Amino acid sequence: MRKKLIAGNWKMNKSLSEAKVLMNEIKSAVSKEVASKVDVVVCPPFISLSAAAEIFVGSGIEFGAQNIHYKDDGAFTGEISASMLRDLGCEYVILGHSERRQYFHETNHLINFKVIKALEKGLTPILCVGETLEQREQGIEVKIVDEQVTMCLKDVCAMDMQRVVIAYEPVWAIGTGKTASPEQADGMHMEIRKSLENLYNATVAGSTRILYGGSMNDKNAKELLGKQNIDGGLIGGAALKADSLLKIIEAGL
Ligand code: 13P
Repeated sequence: MRKKLIAGNWKMNKSLSEAKVLMNEIKSAVSKEVASKVDVVVCPPFISLSAAAEIFVGSGIEFGAQNIHYKDDGAFTGEISASMLRDLGCEYVILGHSERRQYFHETNHLINFKVIKALEKGLTPILCVGETLEQREQGIEVKIVDEQVTMCLKDVCAMDMQRVVIAYEPVWAIGTGKTASPEQADGMHMEIRKSLENLYNATVAGSTRILYGGSMNDKNAKELLGKQNIDGGLIGGAALKADSLLKIIEAGL
């Protein structure tokens, strides 16, 4: 049985003081009982992670970062390492988000290094995959996503896969208000399970959590989360309001 996971990706939103307000609102909205039934993860910008550690302690809510560097430490100006995040009590890290692929030129190869480093340091990677509109129109979306899964998970063993979460985020659905239909999302999640079965085995394919991301909100969450292969959501805009985040979490109960 795969436990549902609802993660909020705040992207580059909220100053530290604004983040503290929102995190306290989320803490008040999400009871410990709810947080014990669904994994709830908040991923604010780096500067708010230590506040997240203080605010969420004992709440059952976990927090994550939105990126790491793939090296342990060294002369990489502006970067943050996996160990630094672990030291803060960070459990999760979003890797390979399409915005990082698009604006920061991250490749499957680079993302693979990051996944390996995250696992080595004890972080749970939320590995993002997804096709662009152009790729979907060309009918190559399954091939693209299979390639992303295969390349980003290179050298990750079956045992480590127990800690990997995959997020299917079709690029055309992110921040556009256009959601993949529950059938489209479920279908792609099934394809991802096929890729995992080819790479590993049926157990890994059946136990890996696959989240959907792309304009998920309190209106469409129930139908999406009701699908057999959708194990949660990676939420952008709708995670910036405690009440809509709570409704999405409740839809996953
Ligand atoms: P939106 O929910 O704002 O479409 O963003 C989705 C996303 O990119 C989450 O990582």
